[in-house]
Amino acid sequence: TRLAIFASGTGSNYQAIDQAIKTGELDAEIVLLVSDQPGAKVIEKADENQLAKFIFDPKDYQNKCEFETEIVNELQAHQVDWIVLAGYMRLVGPTLLNQYQRRIINIHPSLLPAFPGLDAVGQALEAGVKLSGTTIHYVDSGMDTGEIIAQESVRVKPGMTREELQTAIQKIEHELYPKTIQRLILEGDSF
Ligand code: GRF
Repeated sequence: TRLAIFASGTGSNYQAIDQAIKTGELDAEIVLLVSDQPGAKVIEKADENQLAKFIFDPKDYQNKCEFETEIVNELQAHQVDWIVLAGYMRLVGPTLLNQYQRRIINIHPSLLPAFPGLDAVGQALEAGVKLSGTTIHYVDSGMDTGEIIAQESVRVKPGMTREELQTAIQKIEHELYPKTIQRLILEGDSF
């Protein structure tokens, strides 16, 4: 099973997925990195693995359809089966969604439908919830609105800082994402 990772940032989830493949826990292959941030840390990590990449700057294009058309070409050239968003800070448009129906997944650092969008960790702290966590979901045209595939909770301890909660959530993301991708690959749409 051939995966493309879409990422805009640090790439710790990319690394966790890559690691799970290397240990045999996840039976898949990462064949392409797509990033909309030419300076992102994730690119250095992908380069260490000599991973093929498509890096673009949205400012160089008239609209989303234009750069997503190029992305689709790259995905097809690399025969990608699944698109795994790992901190890709951009809404996916119809060009990609129509070509990869129920084949695009995302991970979000809250228990959706609570706290969609930017700074989910900050939003959770602000709201004073005692429980937050992470959600893996199919991607649709909305902001973190697609059908939920898997969730895991994290207890918000009194006085916890944003960084502490983020670290705690990312720790479980790094386990849950590879595990869930493996289940999806094995069971397809049936779970
Ligand atoms: C993750 O916490 C994920 O939930 C969110 O963006 C973050 C990406 O982190 N969508 P990283 O780039 O994988 O380290």
